[in-house]
Amino acid sequence: MSIKEISKIQPESFEFSKDNLQEAENEIKKYPKDKQSSAVLALLYLVQKQNNNWIPLAAIKYVARLLGIPYIQVYEVSTFYSMFNLSPVGKYFVQVCTTTPCMLRGAKKVLEVCKKHISTSQKELSKNKLCSWTEVECLGACVNAPMMQINQDYFEDLDENKTEEIIQTLLEDKLPTPGSAKNRKNTAPEKGKTTLLEVKNA
Ligand code: FES
Repeated sequence: MSIKEISKIQPESFEFSKDNLQEAENEIKKYPKDKQSSAVLALLYLVQKQNNNWIPLAAIKYVARLLGIPYIQVYEVSTFYSMFNLSPVGKYFVQVCTTTPCMLRGAKKVLEVCKKHISTSQKELSKNKLCSWTEVECLGACVNAPMMQINQDYFEDLDENKTEEIIQTLLEDKLPTPGSAKNRKNTAPEKGKTTLLEVKNA
């Protein structure tokens, strides 16, 4: 999305819903009086949760006012962390891990599928505006590489066909079942466990 396009869709104002305001106040109370700006990450997370997974400029200013700190301080935080989105990401936000273990196990194919079916560039919405994708660093599921995160869920042990199937389902406005595409239980070996056999729930 270009800066011009992003500026066109910025809302004039933002404020927390009643519940989120309560939650924000609870977060702020966790810090000593002169350190309450430390609640900035929690408040930005709440903004994103309330606002379809992205943070508009009006919300950055709102959070700065709530915390009594300069707007630029909140802006710096929101632009530093890759988990904060500063433009719309669609109802289904696909984050493809491209760190070494995932790359070695075929993440490039996963990326190609995203480029083909969602949008040619990352952070751009699909034609039906339901989906966008981005590359991210290790999501901590290397043992099930290659993998991607869609909203809050992990999709693991992917290959080109499985990724196509998942992305097509998203574009039809449905969320597929998360987990291993090879039906592995968590990180267990593909043919069942090989150690701790005598431990019942290991
Ligand atoms: S390298 Fe992809 S999850 Fe760690």
